[in-house]
Amino acid sequence: MSANGPRVLILPEDDWAAAVAAELAARLVERPSLRVCLPTGGTPTPVYAALANAERAGRCSLGAATVVLLDEWVGLAPGDPARCDVRLRDELLERLEAPPAFVPIGVDAADLAAAVAEHDAAAVCLDLAVVGLGMNGHIGFNEPGSSPSGATRVVTLQPMTIAAATAQYGARSMPSGGVTVGFARLLAAQEVWLLVTGERKAAVLRRALTEPENAACPASLLRRHPRLTVFADEAAAGELRGN
Ligand code: GLP
Repeated sequence: MSANGPRVLILPEDDWAAAVAAELAARLVERPSLRVCLPTGGTPTPVYAALANAERAGRCSLGAATVVLLDEWVGLAPGDPARCDVRLRDELLERLEAPPAFVPIGVDAADLAAAVAEHDAAAVCLDLAVVGLGMNGHIGFNEPGSSPSGATRVVTLQPMTIAAATAQYGARSMPSGGVTVGFARLLAAQEVWLLVTGERKAAVLRRALTEPENAACPASLLRRHPRLTVFADEAAAGELRGN
């Protein structure tokens, strides 16, 4: 953990998304060429809606920024609504007047290993890595057991991760493989933001922030970063009191 520990912001549920979007807009104003890694999932969806509104109101621009996708399924057809690239386009990129350069993960390439290496190179020198939190503590698709020096790579997903996605996408069966930006790149970003909402994440957020750093809870590895900010709503922060 850094000397001062992470900055933990606990926000009322109704203000959470606007607060995260406002801070992201502020970063974009400071640095229009921001190179940012973004996640998908239910957690960031309202942040992207608020950020798109801010852009359309002229409060920020992503036109000179670069967005690097955090993770992607392997085995879903291009255009599948459960694909991470499709979600990010729908929820943010296509809602913008001036979209950023977008770096999806080339999971459809004939040479997957080369596409993964290319994505790893794209994730070098991030100004900001924004990540969500999996129910088993995963970050992106860095599942329990991931190394803090892990590269961007193809991973086999854990049953809990597949089950969570299956529930989210209408009980269809989801693939067991993914590609994720690795901790080596995330921890080398200038800044890392962990987004967490909802009571169901309260226990895993407590583990991530209060238990000794360990690979069984990959999110705990983020505490090595000297500029980690946790944006939690009150429900997700419910088990942090007293810590
Ligand atoms: C998925 C994604 C992660 C995401 C996590 C949490 O497994 N690969 O990048 O952060 O789930 O998703 P949600 O925000 O829907 O809880």
